[in-house]
Amino acid sequence: MNPPIKILVIHGPNLQLLGERETGVYGKTTLASIDRELVRLASRRGVSLSILQSNSEGEIVEAIAAARKSAAAILINPAAYTHTSVAIRDALAAVRLPAVEVHLSNIHAREEFRRTSLVAPVVRGQVSGFGPLSYLLGLEAAIALARPPKKSHRRKL
Ligand code: DQA
Repeated sequence: MNPPIKILVIHGPNLQLLGERETGVYGKTTLASIDRELVRLASRRGVSLSILQSNSEGEIVEAIAAARKSAAAILINPAAYTHTSVAIRDALAAVRLPAVEVHLSNIHAREEFRRTSLVAPVVRGQVSGFGPLSYLLGLEAAIALARPPKKSHRRKL
């Protein structure tokens, strides 16, 4: 049997404070609880997760680079780095793994500076505004992108 597909999950800066941080915007769910739900969904789908929370841009860049050898897709909430980090954007573009960007809040309905995502052009899609559900929807998308299509489902050209 093939080893399970692995998906790298990255939580950016300050997300370790979920549950107590600006609860009116981000809700009361903790990061540990989001991770538990992600692991549960992944195991139902037969994929494995490698999960990183980091407040350091360099650590996130290194994790993305390392994923090219070990993961089939990336699920990322770059948090504040969404709006500032050319380095994370370039890392995602460099590894050419399918990536899905997620946000708890709807970044397009907030302050002007949050409406620009530097990573959006190099990911396959964005899920924004559904609280913890954004992560679960994003993971479903990442799993679909990570799995090569079954031969029988391939359309003949
Ligand atoms: C966030 C939105 C970002 O603008 C913010 O800096 C975050 C969290 C979200 O999940 O809604 O830290 O990525």
